[in-house]
Amino acid sequence: MKLGIIGAGRIGQVHARSVWQNPDTTLVAVSDPHIEAAQSVTARYGGTAVATAEEVINNPEVEAIVICSPTPFHAEQILAAAKANKPALCEKPIAMDSATVEQLYRELEGLNPRVMMGFNRRFDPSFAAAKQASDAGKLGKVEQVTIISRDPAAPPKEYIAVSGGIFKDMTIHDFDMARFLIGDIASVSAVGQNLDPDLADTGDFDGAVITMVNTEGASATVVNSRHCATGYDQRLEIFGTQGSVFCENVLPTTAHISTANHSRAQDTYLDFFLDRYAQAYALELAAFVSAARGERDFSPSIADGAAALRIAEAAETSARELRTVTL
Ligand SMILES: NC(=O)c1ccc[n+]([C@@H]2O[C@H](COP(=O)([O-])OP(=O)(O)OC[C@H]3O[C@@H](n4cnc5c(N)ncnc54)[C@H](O)[C@@H]3O)[C@@H](O)[C@H]2O)c1
Repeated sequence: MKLGIIGAGRIGQVHARSVWQNPDTTLVAVSDPHIEAAQSVTARYGGTAVATAEEVINNPEVEAIVICSPTPFHAEQILAAAKANKPALCEKPIAMDSATVEQLYRELEGLNPRVMMGFNRRFDPSFAAAKQASDAGKLGKVEQVTIISRDPAAPPKEYIAVSGGIFKDMTIHDFDMARFLIGDIASVSAVGQNLDPDLADTGDFDGAVITMVNTEGASATVVNSRHCATGYDQRLEIFGTQGSVFCENVLPTTAHISTANHSRAQDTYLDFFLDRYAQAYALELAAFVSAARGERDFSPSIADGAAALRIAEAAETSARELRTVTL
């Protein structure tokens, strides 16, 4: 399948590498208003560098599109892909706010959008195995999910300023995981933290603890921090009436080194999302190609993207107004 990528930044480069590595896909075109960024990707992974998204979407050779532009452009590019009748894998979050998503839904009426959202963590082999154990009934009835997701260090302030805030930018992955594991969320209680004096003037939280409850009373609790001295901390537990499943951090090697000062010391965690979720991004792209060929659903879907965004907005309200928000 011949793919085009819109946006050649951090995540655009990840997807370009996945396209290059996948024997079923070829990179045909990459767009970025900073043409040098697009050129550096095509020099490495193939295809033609162009300046505008339209040149990718309307390129007759391009069969499917990966949207990796900044979030404010996602809705218009999803619409343009649907108008061109081309499947699209769109990065998270789907938009900066739910009003934009509602407008997008209206504009998509009468079209046949084939859109998958880039919630890559669903494709992580460890989390997928945990989900499989849960779906197979091995844990009994799921009562509590706990997700720990901490970044090694905060992004630049300029990034935070346009990110939409921690809930839409960072926790959105965890909101999707919560829905993936316990289904639709009925209420959200969030505590926002401002613990890093360097980020005090951003107006955003640098840590958060969010508890969501589904219609049957099962909970999913997310613990986030923008700064974690021990590295990119990604753990997950599902606790049920008959058992539990726990996903530890993934380490570069399995070696344990014991000395007079340490027992069973191991490598530090995989560096950041590019390394920790490399396999997940590759599997996500393969799933998208499979969906584009009609072999599976476009899942996670636009509706999943919209639902995670609604939870992010509810969490923001909850943390600002110190109250539980029902959905
Ligand atoms: N799934 C994940 O793990 C993950 C990780 C990082 C970022 N993201 C998401 O991916 C998107 C991009 O983030 P990033 O970190 O790669 O940002 P980035 O700033 O590194 O890259 C964005 C690129 O898009 C280009 N661009 C700007 N306007 C454009 C337009 N109209 N059309 C095409 N390209 C345009 C910029 O020049 C830049 O090169 C965001 O929505 C972000 O939330 C997802």
